[in-house]
Amino acid sequence: MKKIIAFNFKMNFNYNEVRDYISNIKGKLNNKNIVLCPPTIFLPYFISDEYSLGAQTISEYDNGAHTGETSCSQLKSIGGSYTIIGHSERRQTQEEDDLLINAKVKKALESGLKVILCIGETKEEYDMLRTSKVLKREISNGLKNISTNLLENVIIAYEPIWSIGTGIIPSNDEISKTIDFIIDTTFSTYKFRPIVLYGGSVNEKNIEQLNQIENVSGFLIGGASLDSSKVLKIKEVVEK
Ligand code: 13P
Repeated sequence: MKKIIAFNFKMNFNYNEVRDYISNIKGKLNNKNIVLCPPTIFLPYFISDEYSLGAQTISEYDNGAHTGETSCSQLKSIGGSYTIIGHSERRQTQEEDDLLINAKVKKALESGLKVILCIGETKEEYDMLRTSKVLKREISNGLKNISTNLLENVIIAYEPIWSIGTGIIPSNDEISKTIDFIIDTTFSTYKFRPIVLYGGSVNEKNIEQLNQIENVSGFLIGGASLDSSKVLKIKEVVEK
């Protein structure tokens, strides 16, 4: 299976930077398993057949009186096919809880989008050996009451929160064991074997090593997304 590489730009870039970035990547990605997730305001500038387009979050509602939100059908209408849901930054700073995340996952899947559901433990939870407990809860609550045929459009991204933007990464062996746990837990709870991405300080320097982990089906990348030359280097390594 071809690996997925999702680039989460977070709340970065202004209009001029977007224009430069787009001209730098034009004609160079050519892989629909590469998913660019720019800030919502810039999504239309990224419309292209050369890669897939995703949102960083999505509304749990249909269109209507929901000021400031973006709906699944709006995203789809510009050719978007993915959305990230449950990123730790939204869980923490927007106070999104498992219930809301579940509603968003449900709405996105019913709308025909592919969902990248983010899960991961804090440093404190990691130190207290509570990683399995946290991941189990996030999987179980995030995917609750979703019909089995829709689950095949769910991709899980394991992002240890203590690794995001810190340059600290678990060993390959540790990532591999945690991903096995995620696959087994999802299967025993929902009879569905998910594709799992790793995210947290992935860059053009460590990608070669991380890409060797056999049960990792791709990556969710933050900081390195912002430099198109790093994106191209990562793509080259993962596609090898
Ligand atoms: P970094 O790659 O900057 O650590 O961010 C990871 C992330 O949060 C992607 O969603």
